[in-house]
Amino acid sequence: MDFAAYVRDIKDFPKQGVIFKDITPLLNNPEALARACEALCGFTTNMKIDKVVGVDSRGFIFAPMLAERLQAGFVPVRKKGKLPYKTVSESYDLEYGSETLEIHTDAIKKGEKVLIHDDVLATGGTASAVCKLVEKLGGEVVQCNFLVELTFLDGAKKLNGYQIEALLQY
Ligand code: PRP
Ligand code: MG
Repeated sequence: MDFAAYVRDIKDFPKQGVIFKDITPLLNNPEALARACEALCGFTTNMKIDKVVGVDSRGFIFAPMLAERLQAGFVPVRKKGKLPYKTVSESYDLEYGSETLEIHTDAIKKGEKVLIHDDVLATGGTASAVCKLVEKLGGEVVQCNFLVELTFLDGAKKLNGYQIEALLQY
């Protein structure tokens, strides 16, 4: 399926000079949605996955669907202050300032195989912080997969040593 046909460019969103990749047309179309789930799961063929980690907030769209299909548990990584139980946290730099992500301490057991999913891989700061969180709990990151990889931002470099997959590359 031509997934790119269901992603539209929004100029100057969320700020001047940025071309935003809007995946809502893909979500809106029943067949494209089903095929996208199937393709993302297909990246993990023959892998054992215990947990799928989704990244607050746009990673929450697909990650639970993938978890259900892969017969794995779903784990939310959230922005600071949102998770109610004990957490570990990891901070990373943004263009301006920094962001902190958190995971529940009991979300992943030592040795569990973990798939990390997010909508977009841009600079890689978010995904590499999530890898660190998983590893702090003793989990093994078996793959990071994304709907969209913005290859010109070199995010894959920050994820050196991890298996990276994306449905669409720009
Ligand atoms: C966006 C996107 C990824 C991240 C990618 O999330 O959903 O999570 O940026 O960027 P990076 O590779 O440069 O780290 P954002 O932090 O804007 O928040 P949102 O998902 O809540 O919209
Ligand atoms: Mg995000």
